[in-house]
Amino acid sequence: MKKRVGIEALAVAVPRRYVDIEDLARARGVDPAKFTAGLGAKEMAVNDPGEDSVSLAATAAARLIQQQSVDTSKIGMLVVGTETGVDHSKPIASHVHGLLKLPRSMRTFDSQHACYGGTAGLMAAVEWIASGAGAGRTALVVCTDIARYGLKTAGEPTQGGGAVALLVSETPDLLAMDVGLNGVCTSDVYDFWRPVGRREALVDGHYSITCYLDAMAGAYRGWRQRAMEQGLVRWDSKLPSEQLSRILYHVPFCKMARKAHAQVRLCDLEDATASGPTTPEARDEAAKSQASYDAQVAKSLGLNARVGNVYTASLYLALAGQLHAEGAALANQRIGLLSYGSGCCAEFYSGVVGEKAAERMARADLDSVLAKRERVSVEEYERLMNLPYDAPEAIAPEPGTFRLAEIVEHRRKYAGA
Ligand code: HMG
Repeated sequence: MKKRVGIEALAVAVPRRYVDIEDLARARGVDPAKFTAGLGAKEMAVNDPGEDSVSLAATAAARLIQQQSVDTSKIGMLVVGTETGVDHSKPIASHVHGLLKLPRSMRTFDSQHACYGGTAGLMAAVEWIASGAGAGRTALVVCTDIARYGLKTAGEPTQGGGAVALLVSETPDLLAMDVGLNGVCTSDVYDFWRPVGRREALVDGHYSITCYLDAMAGAYRGWRQRAMEQGLVRWDSKLPSEQLSRILYHVPFCKMARKAHAQVRLCDLEDATASGPTTPEARDEAAKSQASYDAQVAKSLGLNARVGNVYTASLYLALAGQLHAEGAALANQRIGLLSYGSGCCAEFYSGVVGEKAAERMARADLDSVLAKRERVSVEEYERLMNLPYDAPEAIAPEPGTFRLAEIVEHRRKYAGA
């Protein structure tokens, strides 16, 4: 019998402060509806230099271990997916390993490919376990990032930050993966990048949306072909994509999930063998179905709308939001997930939600993770953005969290948890 492998549990860490997106719009002289209706945002996480990608990753991982009583002696692999590296050589995974005092007999490494790095790490862990090489051990995969474009740029309302830690095992209480069905699509493009030494990303915003949609179409069609070969979806009165209970997307801003969903539907409508809309205009219209978006996508976006882009963690924040909202109702149902990383690579995969998903998500206590945050003014947000990255403010870490305390001779020192 094939091994069941997938995500057993997750935990989320976010910066302790956020700015209201309408406050930001007013400060920039923009109609707030552009950021709320146009981009789908509500709030945006704001980090200070003490909340770097290491401290957020370690906080999420420590929370996962504590909330879910994880047996750390069974962890055999620790992967951190990130594009907010703090060193060209020493991985964030080694910091997390040290801060959490994890056992020495484990593989640790970082995985980088823009927002796709977390999914690449997750698949390495899943396939390691599925192959038998893990020999019963579990893997810890942490996605951590700070999305930063800079003040008064077009990307400014699509910033954010945070981390999601995933426990991967043969007890996939959250999501049992359909191993081997994944569809992938790669292309060498300059849509979004951050040259060495730069704190802010460079982005060709509208082009990046085109790249995302193009790559995801290739990834989705690859998954669909394999899923059809396995009899999991078919050409029917329902489109193949409609045979998935929910579809979760990489969410750089919430409106992007709506565009992505229309693209998946358009792939089906263009390729459909049965009768359907015959003109390109009619297909475009059917692809944008509000009913389909409401039924399959809308409920996954609750956390993303309040945190903003979290690069590698964005898809997993959508998974957290989806299971937080509907974990019990989705038990035993198949969902699809689409990961995208600029540069670029897209991967579409699927899995079946576990019967204990609601119970596991209750332990993740997401409402209180978000409720503890403090709303700051745009002036305070700008002050935090302008602080040098290597001079963290002297703030005591909240219980159960880590903070960067200081950097001495290029060595980072952390406090907390
Ligand atoms: P922009 O040019 O300022 O905005 O930048 P716009 O003019 O395109 O308007 C945005 C939307 O608001 C449009 O809706 C407008 O119609 C609407 P759409 O036509 O797209 O459906 N709008 C309004 N709606 C209501 N009331 C109004 C109003 N005014 C306008 N008054 C852009 C937008 C996303 C390009 C910018 O924020 C940006 O560059 N963001 C960063 C790049 C990004 O997020 N790209 C996404 C795809 S690439 C990706 O996901 C990878 C990434 O996560 C990185 C990685 O992989 O590591 C970024």
